[in-house]
Amino acid sequence: MYNLILNSLSLPSRIPLLDGPTPLQRSRLAWGDDTLYWKRDDLTPLGLGGNKLRKLEFLVADALKEKADHIITCGAPQSNHARLTAVVSAMFSLSCSIVIPGETPSQWSGNLLLDRLAGADIIPCGDESLEQEMQRVASEIKSQGRKPYIIPLGGSNVLGSLGYFLAFFELLKQAEEQGWVPSTLVCSVGSAGTFAGLVAANALLPQPLRLLGVNVAEATDRLQLQTTRLADELLNLLHTPRSLPPFTLSTDFVGPGYGQPSPASSSVLIECFQRDGILFDPVYTAKGVAAVKNLMEHKDRPFPENIVFWHTGGGPAIFDPHYYTGLLNNIR
Ligand SMILES: Cc1ncc(COP(=O)(O)O)c(C=O)c1O
Repeated sequence: MYNLILNSLSLPSRIPLLDGPTPLQRSRLAWGDDTLYWKRDDLTPLGLGGNKLRKLEFLVADALKEKADHIITCGAPQSNHARLTAVVSAMFSLSCSIVIPGETPSQWSGNLLLDRLAGADIIPCGDESLEQEMQRVASEIKSQGRKPYIIPLGGSNVLGSLGYFLAFFELLKQAEEQGWVPSTLVCSVGSAGTFAGLVAANALLPQPLRLLGVNVAEATDRLQLQTTRLADELLNLLHTPRSLPPFTLSTDFVGPGYGQPSPASSSVLIECFQRDGILFDPVYTAKGVAAVKNLMEHKDRPFPENIVFWHTGGGPAIFDPHYYTGLLNNIR
């Protein structure tokens, strides 16, 4: 059935950046009678992995189609999206600027180090907004007779989301081959492109799965709108308009705020590393796993379920002292 759906779609151009499906592994953790699986997009094969490679397959293909020679994007200093954009730009001989908030970083650690190793310029935007600064850099590049291409925050536009629309069917096929059916799918939500792709794909199933997005920033109303807008736009792009099945966005695991670890995220990060040998990052995926743990421990359904957490990567951020110092204090 999945092949039938996929073969009927006409997709925009795409550069292949993954070698095939990422692993789908059963967890050893028991937080109740459900079975937990990890979809390992932290193991996508380039630049230390993560969800953004699936988005960049379409975004960089579009940039190349537009004959761009310079990529501009933005994000927090420890942005995983910025790291992978820098890496893929370099692979295709595109120069790359990354706009970050505030001033020049005092330390080049974690993802920032990798951005620089990939040859990207880091441009602090000071008092400007990230968006304004990206436009300023684009004008400067144009004035040199070159062609810039702006990739929005998190790679979260309709082309980026398409990567996760397709990934949803990759997961269903893999589970089918392994002989089980997922019932609940959970992922962390930042700029919403990943979640919107999954929500759009879920709309094509006769029996949609339960989808839970775990908000890692504050403004849930904005994320709800952004998810719905992107998912609708995606289904229209693919000429398969549908009404979207319900989905849940939880704000309960944001903790002290965007980019700040919470006690629950730090403790679950250590638990998963010790029990399953899997590293989550302290401010995106560990918050999502904290939500999964809560869901499994406070279960309101009488039957065991197959729950999938989509591991969207982010490990390199842990090598920023801002994060590892706090974690060291949590180890018992
Ligand atoms: C490791 C990780 N997981 C999840 C997300 C959230 O993905 P999205 O921005 O598509 O909502 C991000 C966002 O940057 C991330 O870096």
